[in-house]
Amino acid sequence: MPRAQLKIAILISGRGSNLQALIDQFGPGVAASPIEIVLVLSNRPDAFGLTRAVRAGIPTQVIDHKNFAERASFDAAMDQAIRAAGAELVVLAGFLRLLSDGFIAGWQDRLVNIHPALLPAFKGLDTHARALAAGVRFHGCTVHFVRPEMDSGPIIAQAAVPVRPDDTAESLGRRVLAAEHRLFPQTLRLIAEGKVSVVDERAVIRDTAFAGGVLCNPIGS
Ligand code: GRF
Repeated sequence: MPRAQLKIAILISGRGSNLQALIDQFGPGVAASPIEIVLVLSNRPDAFGLTRAVRAGIPTQVIDHKNFAERASFDAAMDQAIRAAGAELVVLAGFLRLLSDGFIAGWQDRLVNIHPALLPAFKGLDTHARALAAGVRFHGCTVHFVRPEMDSGPIIAQAAVPVRPDDTAESLGRRVLAAEHRLFPQTLRLIAEGKVSVVDERAVIRDTAFAGGVLCNPIGS
């Protein structure tokens, strides 16, 4: 018997290119998708991602943080909308508000984020410029379960990209973003297939192939 689809809500604040990657893999009309996107929720009415969701025929909702006096009531309104939509997993895809501890606790191990750096390096903003300034040879992105401390929590999957000598923050950012668009759907697929669990605050993944090998930069093959 086929496994039931995992219902997810995707939270955004902006352009939604990661949302688009998820729509392309799991949106309405995709055959045998293990995931159903039941809601795209934005805290900003002008987020372009909302247009992407509407085009794809996915329900959208705007909950503008500016209409709430405090974080807890804003988070409670989001929580209510997400649960009303029937979501089982909450996906942060460029959602630019910090979430309260109460919200995070209510979605323990069912709340994931994508961060544009190889955590635990470069938490926070401006990750590409900071990676260049630090002189790292590899940079990348991380999908992780969310914990109250910003950009922390069990790491589920990462993708690395080389840093090139002539990179700017923009060119490096484009390379990382392309990796995000591959990594995020693959990671959500693993979760939907029931292959990801958290043991002692580390994400454990069952049945994934590991390609092995060593990445070197410079002297890449
Ligand atoms: C991505 O770089 C993501 O890693 C970060 O916010 C950005 C969102 O971009 N959390 P987009 O809205 O998905 O294009």
